[in-house]
Amino acid sequence: MKLWGGRFGKEVDKTAEEFGASIPFDRNLYRQDIAGSIAHARMLAKQGIISPEDSNTIIAGLEKIRARIERGEFEFRLDREDIHMNIEAVLAEEIGSAAGRLHTGRSRNDQVALDVRLYTCSAIVTIVERIANLQETLLKLAQKWHGIIMPGYTHLQRAQPVLLSHHLLAYFEMLQRDAGRFYDCYTRTDVSPLGSGALAGVPYPLDREYVAEQLGMNAITRNSLDAVSDRDFVVETLSAAALCAVHLSRFAEEIVLWSSGEFGFIELDDAYSTGSSIMPQKKNPDMAELVRGKSGRMVGNLVSVLTMLKGLPLAYNKDMQEDKEPLFDSVETLVNSLTVFNGMIATMQVRAATLYRAAQGSFATATDIADYLVKKGIPFRQAHEVSGKLVKKCVEEGRTFADLKLEEYRAFASEFDEDILLITVESSLGSRKTTGGTAPEQVANALTAAENLLMETRDWLKEKSTGQDER
Ligand code: ARG
Repeated sequence: MKLWGGRFGKEVDKTAEEFGASIPFDRNLYRQDIAGSIAHARMLAKQGIISPEDSNTIIAGLEKIRARIERGEFEFRLDREDIHMNIEAVLAEEIGSAAGRLHTGRSRNDQVALDVRLYTCSAIVTIVERIANLQETLLKLAQKWHGIIMPGYTHLQRAQPVLLSHHLLAYFEMLQRDAGRFYDCYTRTDVSPLGSGALAGVPYPLDREYVAEQLGMNAITRNSLDAVSDRDFVVETLSAAALCAVHLSRFAEEIVLWSSGEFGFIELDDAYSTGSSIMPQKKNPDMAELVRGKSGRMVGNLVSVLTMLKGLPLAYNKDMQEDKEPLFDSVETLVNSLTVFNGMIATMQVRAATLYRAAQGSFATATDIADYLVKKGIPFRQAHEVSGKLVKKCVEEGRTFADLKLEEYRAFASEFDEDILLITVESSLGSRKTTGGTAPEQVANALTAAENLLMETRDWLKEKSTGQDER
């Protein structure tokens, strides 16, 4: 078939056709494409550019096509290249000549920019919803397990005792920033480029605001050249997705460690674990490993779109067709990762006694001993030295701080009094009362703050999901 009208004398080479087609993946955009076309057709009639009859025929035809696609009865054709041409061609078969008027004052360049923007907005809403669900689980677990003590780590060496809730809330914070990055990007995405035409604007009296309004979009773009060549919103979404995936990956790594025999801090539910085909005793944290592994492709997707864009002159270039697969892949992968991760941690069991023992038996209160001496007037550096010597002694003798007698402390510094024996993991925790610290009352405040943040996210989601069905 000759797709490109009068200018062309030959059919396109088959391999070129296949190479150039985006329909295998941009069929994903059918809803957005149809919503955009309906808004455009309505506007064309309102402006007297096409007749109301033609507009109505076009709209009815497009609605029929949408239903047909949803029933799986639409034939997507490679020789029609992309979603825009596929729909337009079938519309012409359906309604005849009126279909030819739909593309008045429009180009596939502004059309595809619109479709991808609409898709990205709805993807962001879905992602933020999954982020909020995971945050809610973290919050519930942090409430349920409030009081459980574990060792906090630096360099993966036991460092100071912390509350498990505090540790979980650290991930709540990361996810909160992730959600923030997505909302922020949403505002810049929710802008209609329609009316930019191929690159320079169009010679018809379009009402661009009316189109945006029908689609529930916030604003219209200001520069037609930029509008058809801007994919910043794709990059921003991929970037936010990559970082969120990296957060999940770090958490996943902890789940892998914690569920190992070496740590024994948690037990994953059977529903989120797998066995080994050869070693009957194995229970593998596959879901956590996969979440960790999948972060790689999300970072890759970001890099591939940035690289694709970097040498492009204005305005549209076919290279930009390469934005879609990475975008779709990151959205789908992130949504799935968030969902499975949520289920995995919601069902895991924690071994509080093991966590406590790990916190207690690891000299995690060594800093507290140094701080004790500081309160008695000794400079911190010197106090650090004394506490280090006490650790060395214990290590050499196979003992813990709890085994030491007052005289043994005194042998290292005369400032030690009876109350040195009162330093415990609990007192260590309890003393870290700075805002954002792990003292139980601070963590209780953090739990309340987290509840409020989550409510704000839910409100944002409610606001953004109304009217989404239209587009
Ligand atoms: N399939 C194309 C894309 O995804 C649509 C825009 C095509 N525009 C063009 N002038 N060839 O980018």
